[in-house]
Amino acid sequence: MPADEGLALYAAAVEAARLGLPLLEIGTYCGRSTILLADAARRADGDVTVLTVDHHRGSEEQQPGWEYHDPELVDPRVGLMDTLPFFRRALHTAGLEEHVVALVGRSPRIAALWGGRLGLVFVDGGHTDEHARADYEGWAPQLAEGGLLVIHDVFPDPADGGQAPYRIYRRALESGAFAEVSAFRSLRVLRRTGPGV
Ligand SMILES: C[S@@+](CC[C@H](N)C(=O)[O-])C[C@H]1O[C@@H](n2cnc3c(N)ncnc32)[C@H](O)[C@@H]1O
Repeated sequence: MPADEGLALYAAAVEAARLGLPLLEIGTYCGRSTILLADAARRADGDVTVLTVDHHRGSEEQQPGWEYHDPELVDPRVGLMDTLPFFRRALHTAGLEEHVVALVGRSPRIAALWGGRLGLVFVDGGHTDEHARADYEGWAPQLAEGGLLVIHDVFPDPADGGQAPYRIYRRALESGAFAEVSAFRSLRVLRRTGPGV
């Protein structure tokens, strides 16, 4: 995530944290965006926690042979990516461990277990239609009214990138349950305004 998009995410998180509810991220990776959310949680008046979900095995485009693969993130003992130790180190270095609960597993499985309301849902997990749809369907209904849905990598023009995040962004708006708050590069911020997600 470029720094300016990160700042837009941070501004949304600061606003959402005023609701005093947990801030949920799908797609921890090595913790860059988690740190932004965690700092917003730390600054909040209430006791706000960031929940961050990832199986830590990487998305499709991060696997060997693909564009975003980083060989340093492969655990040689199991021959698979493992971003969890890198994430933990980054969070510790930032001094933000106490504000974050890391949930290690597949997003739909965790969404099915979560029963509480959320102040923010940041969707930055798998970028296939299957994954983006499951993230939207699993987590968006758990957003409190007034809470923010933030979607990364929204590209209206297919020439700029994959369409799955754009499709859930359109679906959220067409549901009538969300209103757009801001758009910065590929980051979209929507506010939940009603039922019917
Ligand atoms: C684009 S990266 C996240 C980047 C991160 N938000 C940042 O800004 O640094 C996507 C992450 O989503 C995770 N992921 C993909 N599909 C997932 C799923 N179904 N459940 C949990 N995590 C998933 C991958 O393991 C990967 O770490």
